[in-house]
Amino acid sequence: MRTAVALTCFLILSLSLSSCAEQDKAAGHPWTPSEWSLIQSLSLENLPAATDSSNRYLNNPQAIQLGSELFFDKRLSANGQVSCASCHQPEKFFSDGLTTAQAIGSGTRNTPSLLGAAWNQWFFWDGRKDSLWSQALAPLEDPKEHNIARTDLAKLVLIDADYRQKYQALFGSPPPLADIQAWPVDARPSGSIEQMKTWKALSDQQRKAIDTSFANLGKSIAAYVSTLKPVSTRFDQYVSEVKAGKNTHLLNNTELAGLRLFIDPKQQCLNCHSGPLFTNQSFHSIGTGEMGKDTGRAAIIDQVRFDRFNCWGDFSDAPKESCTKLQYMQRNRHQLIGAYKTPSLRNVGNTAPYFHNGSKLSLADVLDHYMNAKDIQAGRADLKPISLTSTEKTALLAFLQTLNAVQP
Ligand code: HEC
Ligand code: HEC
Repeated sequence: MRTAVALTCFLILSLSLSSCAEQDKAAGHPWTPSEWSLIQSLSLENLPAATDSSNRYLNNPQAIQLGSELFFDKRLSANGQVSCASCHQPEKFFSDGLTTAQAIGSGTRNTPSLLGAAWNQWFFWDGRKDSLWSQALAPLEDPKEHNIARTDLAKLVLIDADYRQKYQALFGSPPPLADIQAWPVDARPSGSIEQMKTWKALSDQQRKAIDTSFANLGKSIAAYVSTLKPVSTRFDQYVSEVKAGKNTHLLNNTELAGLRLFIDPKQQCLNCHSGPLFTNQSFHSIGTGEMGKDTGRAAIIDQVRFDRFNCWGDFSDAPKESCTKLQYMQRNRHQLIGAYKTPSLRNVGNTAPYFHNGSKLSLADVLDHYMNAKDIQAGRADLKPISLTSTEKTALLAFLQTLNAVQP
């Protein structure tokens, strides 16, 4: 389609320059072919289906159903008051609007929106998990989040009649009820000395059975989370109207000027915020790390490689040789100090505060950071300082707001 337009344009161009320009104008289309191809690459239409070879249940409707029940179930916590949805609230784009997360304890990181999370390559701001299902296991045991011991979780789900039946339909028979009832309460591989002792006292076979059910619950939760897709925005609608040759006014001149800045190599945004989710899925230092406190990706390289629930581990459905992400991951700590995962910019206008630590309250503050941050100015980041006039800043902010979901 694009080739056809370009070709027609080329033919017309060889006849008369002005008629080509007129054709562009008639189509409400101020872009050169290379600008237009960059813009199209950001459209939601280009989002492929989410995949994960380490989770064979990802697209299984029964797994999605079980996962959605687990996601909203507050019993999956030490105090019976915390579910995934406590922090990933559907009405807040599956985020919480807080600076840093709050549940059983206070966290140090900002809660990301889950819309589009299934398309990520690495999970958490520092990417310390390599799959969505393995990610789901972490908050369940995290003392500040659900804080539920692994045996308590397995017992709860495998004894509850409804869950047990759904679990069995998906994963085959769980251990007999009498065996499960005999598992001790409050045992987990990391926690208090008492909890770890109780975990160690289990037989290998018991630990294997508990870990298997733990991983399977993660896989069902991931199946549900992978249904949380970003929806079309004014930006996407603009792209599809231009593509259809319509004379569109969906974006006003300020927003179009902002889009132009966003794709301009001088502002560098596209170096990192690329593709239909506006992220290159990579880790970068943009001067937000805190030495000695939070060094981002650099701190977790071994953790993700030696995680027993990673793609290489016993509970993964992927052949080991297909775990190329782990195999080829960047392991040079020095280059990853203060590096965080580039976040998606879809719905960004609705998900303040910003950055891994929620340190910026508004999008204007984020742009000020790109313009003034000490580490960026001093050349200690993966980008050069950007400079924007106040009119340009207004335009870029207006463009970012066109990435918010259009309410149906
Ligand atoms: C106490 C609030 C809280 C609870 C409860 C919670 N999360 Fe999160 N979630 C967060 C925070 C904060 C992060 C980012 C943490 C980090 O990067 O270190 C996060 C990150 C994630 C991510 C990674 C997204 C990405 O793109 O990197 C996913 C997926 C996710 N959570 C799913 C879940 C699921 C599933 C549950 C329930 C089993 C859950 N969360 C429970 C606060 C919470
Ligand atoms: C070198 C890569 C890189 C470039 C260039 C870059 N960003 Fe970012 N961006 C990031 C990373 C990494 C983060 C997360 C940092 C953190 O959490 O500490 C981020 C965060 C953001 C956020 C906050 C999103 C959120 O949910 O917290 C916005 C908004 C943003 N960038 C917009 C832009 C714009 C606009 C440009 C161009 C002017 C730009 N970025 C250029 C990598 C980049």
